[in-house]
Amino acid sequence: MNPNMNRRRFLETTAASSAALTWLSAHTGPNVFAADAAKPALLGGAPAHKGGWAAWPEWREEWEPKMLEVYRSRKWFRLSGPHVPEFEKAWAEMLGAKKALAVASGTTSLIVGLHVMDVGPGDEVIVSPYTFIATYNAILANSALPVFADTDPATLTMCPKSIESRITERTRAIMPVHIYGMPCDMDQINPIAKKHKLAVVEDACQAWLAEYKGRKCGTLGDVGGFSFQESKHIPSGEGGAITSMSEDVIDRCNAYHNCGRSCGNFKGTGSFTPGMNYRMTQFQAALLLQQFDKLKKQTAIRRANADHLSANLGKIPGITPIRLPENSRPAWHLYPFIYNAEQFNGLSRDKFMAALRAEGVPCSSPYREQYYDGLLDVAINSRGYKRLWSADRLKAYRESFKDLKGNKQACETMVAISQNMLLADRSDIDQILEAIRKIQAHSAALLKKA
Ligand SMILES: Cc1ncc(COP(=O)(O)O)c(C=O)c1O
Repeated sequence: MNPNMNRRRFLETTAASSAALTWLSAHTGPNVFAADAAKPALLGGAPAHKGGWAAWPEWREEWEPKMLEVYRSRKWFRLSGPHVPEFEKAWAEMLGAKKALAVASGTTSLIVGLHVMDVGPGDEVIVSPYTFIATYNAILANSALPVFADTDPATLTMCPKSIESRITERTRAIMPVHIYGMPCDMDQINPIAKKHKLAVVEDACQAWLAEYKGRKCGTLGDVGGFSFQESKHIPSGEGGAITSMSEDVIDRCNAYHNCGRSCGNFKGTGSFTPGMNYRMTQFQAALLLQQFDKLKKQTAIRRANADHLSANLGKIPGITPIRLPENSRPAWHLYPFIYNAEQFNGLSRDKFMAALRAEGVPCSSPYREQYYDGLLDVAINSRGYKRLWSADRLKAYRESFKDLKGNKQACETMVAISQNMLLADRSDIDQILEAIRKIQAHSAALLKKA
């Protein structure tokens, strides 16, 4: 194959595109000008990436003896075996938390955390709308109202400036979500909470080992919740943990998650206080304990690859990496970036993502404006909520969704790749960049394609 011929052909098809010339000048490898490599897969070229990505969750043979040991011990229940308390101690130590409590899921970690912060019927919680639906549900489970702060579309996290105007005499807590493991700007959020005497419940369900100014997410507010569900960086099928810098808070959480039995410094009524069964099993804890080293090592790999992506994606017109708070180190549950269709000749985000998938790069745009999906309508039209809030308040609440302009923008412009892709070799990560550059260079032609 004559590379010069192919290069000419490539230039002919993209003559009008200065972006293509940028792409060409950035690529001087021997096969770069092969027509197949230069054309997007959707236009007949070879995909930028072949061979798929790491399967998730992982399993390791060396974990099996411990799992079998738990099975044969017949001590599967939280209170009968050693693994759950061992996990709690190790999790607290790794995060620099005073204490941790293992629970059944991320959702239950948030339900318990809110309950212990005294969020109850008729209360309001200011929360990020840009999150998994479980965050909303945890507030509703406490018969409280999730009041949405706006999202900063550049960071995808709660915009601190939008919090204060939403505080009412019913507000009891602020619930920042470290979405995709990207820390919220807690130095902006915590002082607002302090000023108004509000609790801070961190949704750190995607933020294992994420750091903000030298401290781990989940230790930055009053209480933090984590998820170990199957897709997570440290999975146990289902599972969760609560962390706090206060031993008393975790004792109260422990009591509530264990049918209301008193615990440590929390004596409750002496017998049962109100409580649920949100306990973790010994199997989950034994599986989690074996993944600590892996979590640490993989977090470093994800960070290095994410940094490489951010440094290079920013050079592609129409792609903007997410802005992070100063001195923060994300966990990167997903790696998100902002897509600007205008700089891709008007190629819609859906078409961009279809073109990227055709390159062998799976991607998605999680979280639409889910406050319009009906869940909150069910809540505010329920008998209970109508008793707890006035009709005027509930009407104004529903109307306030339209003020979430930053969140709407975030929902419409974000594209993400998943965490397992960040574990790939650097050459695979470069293929993600190459795929996006190809699509950018050929966006006009892709636009014409049905
Ligand atoms: C941000 C966020 N909050 C809460 C949860 C709930 O966690 P779980 O699925 O373990 O209940 C998740 C899980 O995906 C999450 O991503």
